[in-house]
Amino acid sequence: MRMTDVIAKKRDGHELTREEIYGLVKGYTDGSIPDYQMSAWAMAVYFQGMTPRETADLTMAMVESGDQLDLSEIPGIKVDKHSTGGVGDKITLVVAPLVASAGIPVAKMSGRGLGFSGGTIDKLESFAGFQVELSQADFFKQVRDIGVAVIGQTGNLAPADKKLYALRDVTATVEAVPLIASSIMSKKIAAGADAILLDVKVGKGAFMKTLDEAETLARAMVAIGEQVGRRTVAVISDMNQPLGYAVGNALEVREAIETLAGKGPEDLTELALTIGAHMLVLGQAQADFTAAYELLREHLTNGKALAKLAELVGAQGGSTEAVENPSLLPQASHQIEVKCSQEGYISGIDAERIGHASVVLGAGRLTKGAPIDYAVGIVLSKKVGSKVVSGNTLAVIHANDLELAETARQEVEAAFSIAAESVQTQPLIRKII
Ligand code: URA
Repeated sequence: MRMTDVIAKKRDGHELTREEIYGLVKGYTDGSIPDYQMSAWAMAVYFQGMTPRETADLTMAMVESGDQLDLSEIPGIKVDKHSTGGVGDKITLVVAPLVASAGIPVAKMSGRGLGFSGGTIDKLESFAGFQVELSQADFFKQVRDIGVAVIGQTGNLAPADKKLYALRDVTATVEAVPLIASSIMSKKIAAGADAILLDVKVGKGAFMKTLDEAETLARAMVAIGEQVGRRTVAVISDMNQPLGYAVGNALEVREAIETLAGKGPEDLTELALTIGAHMLVLGQAQADFTAAYELLREHLTNGKALAKLAELVGAQGGSTEAVENPSLLPQASHQIEVKCSQEGYISGIDAERIGHASVVLGAGRLTKGAPIDYAVGIVLSKKVGSKVVSGNTLAVIHANDLELAETARQEVEAAFSIAAESVQTQPLIRKII
């Protein structure tokens, strides 16, 4: 196989064979295909796209480029969940114990936050002592014993994706849908998923800004799942404002605890129940979505879901007292209110700006491995559609540094748009594919 022929074939809009795709992934991973040829190929894909068959082959070639977790010793259908990333997205903190409490085994690897969107692993570390690194044997044992474990990414999963993603990041080819879809799906499949639930975010605070873009990505991922024998469902959900009210690690954990106790914000509860119910159906624990949704709703009020979170936190060495009494979670020394200066209706809360403000406060990191402050962040007081008058509190900044708090305050204030007339709000769940 000559790489120049493969690049030209894709450039001219032809379908590559399975051998050509496996050849280029293998060659790029072992270094025999240089960055400049892989970049030219990625740009050709950006313009010409890939067929579902090519995309599935690319996914499996990347899966086979490294370790694959074999979860077969854990009984049951292992359903993994992936979010394309948002602000205030604490869904995994809610859904992992929630579906585990209904009999679905959750063996989950999660990531850290980078840039304006947070990561589950950082949030879990808000519990003092919580261990995110477990040996494979301990990881499996915990899932067998209590039905749930959430750890940081380990092993050499999909190294071809890691290398290609880094290249795409600096060659303006991140946005190619088949490349995004195969990148996400390859990591889920390598991590041992039998079935996959995708939470595809759409809106200002998301990677995909329009419903059309989000739907195209969701369909591409569901098609990969179909081609490679992993049942896949995508929930497209709105990210035109942060999910729930809290943004920042311990603040989000606190909101997740409230949600697991049946007292969470409406949007977070609805999305968690929808995602959880689809996971129960994918995992064949329930035949019917509505029955699954109702069962999970019961678990939010009868204490089963919250008890499962306490078991998870305890099993991984974290402070379970903080589950019962969230005021034991890290707390910031200053709370500063952001006030409204006009009358009207909230027409938008720019999630990306709120995310940036939380990073300014120290809740996120701009470079890999930088330390974070678990206590800081932002708690919204109003959501899109709320009526406001001058002097109302729009949000509260939780800060440990007053100078940073002032920068964040300006950013949060600018994130709110206020209109004279009441606005039509978008439904939270935009589409299921
Ligand atoms: N997230 C991924 O994992 N891969 C992409 O290509 C884009 C977002």
